Amino acid sequence: MDVPEQISPGFSVVLGIETSCDETAAAVVVRLPDGSGRIASNVVRTQWERHRPYGGVVPEIAARAHVECLDILIGEAMREADIDYSDLDAVAATAGPGLIGGLIVGLVTGKAIALASGKSFLAVHHLEAHALTVGLTEGLRPPYLLLLVSGGHTQLLIVRGVGDYERLGTTIDDALGEAFDKTAKLLGLGFPGGPAVEQAARAGNPARFELPRPMLGRPEPHFSFAGLKTAVRRTAERLAPLQPQDVADIAASFQEAVVQSVADRCARAMDLALERLGPGAPRHFVVAGGVAANERLRESLRSLADAHGFAFHVPPAHLCSDNAAMIAWAGAERLALGLIDPLAAPARPRWPLDLDAQPAIGAGLKA
Ligand code: KG4
Ligand code: ZN
Repeated sequence: MDVPEQISPGFSVVLGIETSCDETAAAVVVRLPDGSGRIASNVVRTQWERHRPYGGVVPEIAARAHVECLDILIGEAMREADIDYSDLDAVAATAGPGLIGGLIVGLVTGKAIALASGKSFLAVHHLEAHALTVGLTEGLRPPYLLLLVSGGHTQLLIVRGVGDYERLGTTIDDALGEAFDKTAKLLGLGFPGGPAVEQAARAGNPARFELPRPMLGRPEPHFSFAGLKTAVRRTAERLAPLQPQDVADIAASFQEAVVQSVADRCARAMDLALERLGPGAPRHFVVAGGVAANERLRESLRSLADAHGFAFHVPPAHLCSDNAAMIAWAGAERLALGLIDPLAAPARPRWPLDLDAQPAIGAGLKA
């Protein structure tokens, strides 16, 4: 990587560390004075093999697995970027939300490197990192409407600027990725569930089972997937023992129900975003988070955006799922605004992106 010998104002090199869930990751990202970004290295090691026997992420196993390999991955990321710690401007680590054990591993490591090398430290919000990834991949600047769909979160937000988010909708029960994971488990498709359900659905008939389209037509763009999950379970129980074609058809019918429900909620959010931002505001719709890797969902949301006059943006799949390039980039964006954090910055397992957002339960919906 070419790092200019003279660090110019606004030019920054940031090491990012991600340990909030079941991926251990380290990356080096460069932010140029024009606000664009370059990935100098991006190393991710998933822990799926460790969690697979349990059918889900086991927090204690996750934390131990991060400890075992984080220093190795950081070494790899630094070598691949061909830089030394003295070339860094800052170290960014995920501070939350996520599993407390893993967050502590990443934070302590990031703080130690920052302290030892005399660099700034940045405590990064994991969801902010997903939200800002399109700045790194496409140079897109706020404001934009964002659908954030991951294993733990399902939200519609207006991204007004770095650190400035207005939540329009959230899930009142399961997250979308969680719904995919639980459906996969029920159908015996393994872990992680999202890619497995998508794969099975390719051979299935999405019209064979009539599953509910949760929240369709509701004025507030909230989500709910618990009822759909129950309907999937009842369908599977009715047909048991399941033949491979039954599994494919249930997976396809589930995915179709999800896609239609999510598209309806996003359409509502587009109307709200136009009201909030005013008719002259740029119309950009961004999808981010692990579930944004789902091709059927991408395709449907792309058509929806077209129909509503929004430009559609989604990061490449490997930058939708958890990675440290997004953490380094969010850190670089904050650093550019002078928003550095003290070494006392705590891990924050629960940390809303929009601190003013009201609980969705109060919106006249079931808890
Ligand atoms: O953002 P992410 O990597 O981790 C969290 O921060 O949660 O998202 C992981 C989630 C998992 O629930 C996984 O099953 C889901 O994203 N996922 C998918 C696909 N790829 C990953 N869901 C549906 N279709 C996919 N292709
Ligand atoms: Zn994530």
